[in-house]
Amino acid sequence: MINFKVNGQPHSLEIDPETPLLWALRDHLSMTGTKFGCGVGQCGACTVLFNGSALRSCSLPVAAVEGADIITIEGLSDAGDHILQKLWVEMNVPQCGYCQAGVLMAAADLLKRIPNPTDDEIDAYISNICRCGTYPRIRAAIRRAAQEINA
Ligand code: FES
Ligand code: FES
Repeated sequence: MINFKVNGQPHSLEIDPETPLLWALRDHLSMTGTKFGCGVGQCGACTVLFNGSALRSCSLPVAAVEGADIITIEGLSDAGDHILQKLWVEMNVPQCGYCQAGVLMAAADLLKRIPNPTDDEIDAYISNICRCGTYPRIRAAIRRAAQEINA
């Protein structure tokens, strides 16, 4: 039995401890906002917050989250109204959207660590891959979120 919290709610899963956290979330808890891309820790589509830090859930056995607090895109805000989510809509950041849940989780973590990141810091911290090439809009929305948070 693995016990952990997802978006503040406690869960106990009877599950193979080697199961990647991504599949525990998607298949066992029906939280499908976190996406499967590469499965090998490269693309970032599966990014969640693990005890407050961005982490690629495809590469972490669920046994490693015993007692942890996990935040997924479903829990980033109560009503989809995190400053980043609002700006993502307002500034039309997504194209197909597939990568964006992971990008948003990484961006939320970045802004906690670096309140006013430069483009270089954004690029260094957010290594998530977007096949649609939305990087310029991602950078612009993060910069504006930083301005609004720090205003
Ligand atoms: Fe996890 Fe690509 S699916 S990094
Ligand atoms: Fe399509 Fe990023 S918006 S992969």
